[in-house]
Amino acid sequence: MPAYSALADRIRLLILDGRIQVGARLPAERDLAQRLGVSRTTITSTYAELRASGYLTSQRGSGSIAGLPGLPGRPVAMAEAEASTMLDLSKAALPATPLLADAAVRAAQQLPAYLGETGFDPVGLPRLRQAIADRYTARGLPTEPGQVMVTIGAQHAIALLSRVLLHRGDAALVESPSYPHAFEALRAAGGRLVPVGVSTDDGWDDDALEQALQRSSPALAYLMPDFHNPTGRVMDAATRERLLDLAGRQGTVVIADETMAELDIDFGERPLPLAAYGGDGGPGAVSASTVLVGSFGKTVWGGVRIGWLRAAPALIQKLVRARPAGDLGTPILEQLIAIDLLGHYDEVLELRREQLRRGRDHLEAALARELPEWNVPHVHGGLTVWAGLGHPVSSQLTMAARGEGLLLASGPRFGIDGAFERFLRIPFSHTPEETDRAIAALARAWASLTRHSLTDQEYLAEVV
Ligand SMILES: Cc1ncc(COP(=O)(O)O)c(C=O)c1O
Repeated sequence: MPAYSALADRIRLLILDGRIQVGARLPAERDLAQRLGVSRTTITSTYAELRASGYLTSQRGSGSIAGLPGLPGRPVAMAEAEASTMLDLSKAALPATPLLADAAVRAAQQLPAYLGETGFDPVGLPRLRQAIADRYTARGLPTEPGQVMVTIGAQHAIALLSRVLLHRGDAALVESPSYPHAFEALRAAGGRLVPVGVSTDDGWDDDALEQALQRSSPALAYLMPDFHNPTGRVMDAATRERLLDLAGRQGTVVIADETMAELDIDFGERPLPLAAYGGDGGPGAVSASTVLVGSFGKTVWGGVRIGWLRAAPALIQKLVRARPAGDLGTPILEQLIAIDLLGHYDEVLELRREQLRRGRDHLEAALARELPEWNVPHVHGGLTVWAGLGHPVSSQLTMAARGEGLLLASGPRFGIDGAFERFLRIPFSHTPEETDRAIAALARAWASLTRHSLTDQEYLAEVV
């Protein structure tokens, strides 16, 4: 496949993912050629291909404008119908726990006692804050209800923390790869992202972490020390210590996203939650400037929009004061469901463990059979594998897979500035049947690329 087609695929995917907005103006051909270090002819051919496929319109005086084929005038319903026939592996999420329906019934029975009130609250019902605090305590991190704030999912907590902790232009340290919607929340709050690498083989690079913290003195660091999304890595205790020690000296608030933390399949003994390490009050003290973010999204169901954060009460006060600008509070009914389910959370997690073990083993076997040349790391928890493709073709593969009825999130979705074309995140949260169908489609898409014999030189290493 010629370089211009590879670049066109990449831009198409940016438009489809919404990372280039419909209606946005693309750079002039000469500028883009210069920025990417490719010939002007390559860009001319790329734009011509995008125009021919309906992703670009050229308007005299306003340059090349991003669009979608058939838009405007394409009925939304048609796009939705099309999407519903696709197999969606772009998201890593499980169907609801089988324990949810009964918990919801029991919660609804308790609702009458609350119907005379507003039905939402900004910090969380005392009983729910207590249950969440107890869970931390059981995990080895003593916690009081006053250190817990209930939110509408983890993403809400991340966005709220970003708004309160960041000023425009502040550095925000992030892992790369990481969870893309956190990047968006940090950027929306004015954060300047400073990436540090996490790899499937080696995890966190302590020295790079230290340098990044010292050089950029970030206002906050957003990290995922437990079953990192997408690599599945777990940060060891020594790195946790060192990280919090350095962050404390730089005045950096560390946010640990624990959305995946309880999705343990067979890791063995895990380190304590991040806030149990280092700390501002000497050895053994619990860090006051480490915030933990948790959620029901991956353990119970994404449809129960309950998340929380664990932070110093003074920070919680600030967050509660800032909250009404975005939302007024968490719905009571969902909080009642959460209280009920936390009463048998170990059972919820045990069912997940079995489901994820089956999913992981099935996916590993399918990939070993169908795509043996890929590097598929063995993970011990979380929901995804971060597969190494051996060639920088993730966007092209994702485009080819769409043609096979399979939606994927390409590697660059999890990086900053176009990195990770050599990787693909694959969830193991689907049923064995869906996984088999998906991997068969993926293998067909891969074959359509390899037919053109992959060599690195043929592909643009770093674009847009
Ligand atoms: C790492 C990570 N953090 C946060 C979220 C958002 O979670 P929630 O559904 O609780 O908002 C997700 C969801 O995919 C996630 O993967």
